[in-house]
Amino acid sequence: MARILLGISGGIAAAKATDLASRLAKAGHEVQVVMTPAATRFVAPLTFEALTRRSVLVEGLDPGMGILHIDLARWPDLVVVAPASADLLARQAAGMADDLLATVLLATTAPVVVVPAMNPAMWQHPATQANVAILRSRGVTVVPPATGPTACGEEGQGRMPEPADLLRELGGWLASGQGPLAGRKVLVTAGGTREPLDAVRFLGNRSSGRMGHALASAAQALGADVTLVTTSPLPSRTGVRRIEVTTAAEMAEATLARWPDADVLVMAAAVADWTPAQAAPHKLKKADGPPEIRLVPTRDILAEAGAAKRPGQLLVGFAAETGDLRVLGEEKRVRKGCDLLIANHAPRAMEAPDNEVVVLSGSGAEDLGPMIKEALADVLWQRFGRALAALSAPS
Ligand code: CTP
Repeated sequence: MARILLGISGGIAAAKATDLASRLAKAGHEVQVVMTPAATRFVAPLTFEALTRRSVLVEGLDPGMGILHIDLARWPDLVVVAPASADLLARQAAGMADDLLATVLLATTAPVVVVPAMNPAMWQHPATQANVAILRSRGVTVVPPATGPTACGEEGQGRMPEPADLLRELGGWLASGQGPLAGRKVLVTAGGTREPLDAVRFLGNRSSGRMGHALASAAQALGADVTLVTTSPLPSRTGVRRIEVTTAAEMAEATLARWPDADVLVMAAAVADWTPAQAAPHKLKKADGPPEIRLVPTRDILAEAGAAKRPGQLLVGFAAETGDLRVLGEEKRVRKGCDLLIANHAPRAMEAPDNEVVVLSGSGAEDLGPMIKEALADVLWQRFGRALAALSAPS
């Protein structure tokens, strides 16, 4: 059962959060409620104390409390903020630490799910939408509000989803921590990067992201703590921490910042090798004639991760080849410093629902497929799991 820190911010939906707290506690989870001072004006802390059988925390800076916010931030398997008010989202996006809940959100490394609930106009406001985009780009999962009548008498998107629906939404998170990959931090990249040429055009490739998304979902189902850095609009399983990026530079930054802390990195993304030296801030006009585009190399994420790899970490690369898979793949595996390399035929693999690959490990080559990418992901995780266990085994 999971340890859940349930953050409650000020809003009429705080009343609905009592039902959520009750369901989580009844399901056997340990629930620690942290309320903002404003939330306590909507629901008395005692209500949550009775439902969760734990003291509700509001202030963290009283004498004698020690460094409560840091202890609290380390405690949960999952942080859920429901309801998350517009004000809380703004403070979280700005990295503020002006109350206990905001401080915990800043200090925690656990996955964070926020459930915004507010007046529809406040939800639609560009400021709120920009804050939500910032939080998503940092890997926070934002459960969109439901549509319907709101407490303020308006109709629109802003209602907190029903606790039963939320529980289903949280199912993936609550299941993680159980399974053969429990306790493992897995990082997966997916999709093709887009390199801007001007305000409307980009250089890209045909990768759909399906293989990477399937690998992320499969790892999550096996109990891993999964972060997916993706360019793809494809859905991801609940419980997968999703970071949306567009360019190779953004993917490099998001991935390499998290690599030191991960057990496994699977580079399934089709990362551009070159990017335009300059992207015109406006749309290039036809009348100006064909542009001369100078390309500069991007960072090779896999090679950088290979150079920084520490003992016990498993690094998996992919190779899209049009020539001899085994020869080119093995050469690439060694060159980029990865443990395993999954080689596939470039045009065949992209955009297709299925794939066939060769798994190269230095000590052999194994053919897998053809099979649909979701099934292939399951088989690949059997191989990755074994390789990971071998790396951590005492020699
Ligand atoms: N890769 C990366 N960063 C890049 C380019 C590729 O991390 N800038 C990763 C891909 O995610 C993949 C692996 O490197 O896991 C191999 O990608 P591939 O396109 O096959 O190789 P290239 O580096 O482009 O080499 P080549 O052009 O020789 O095929």
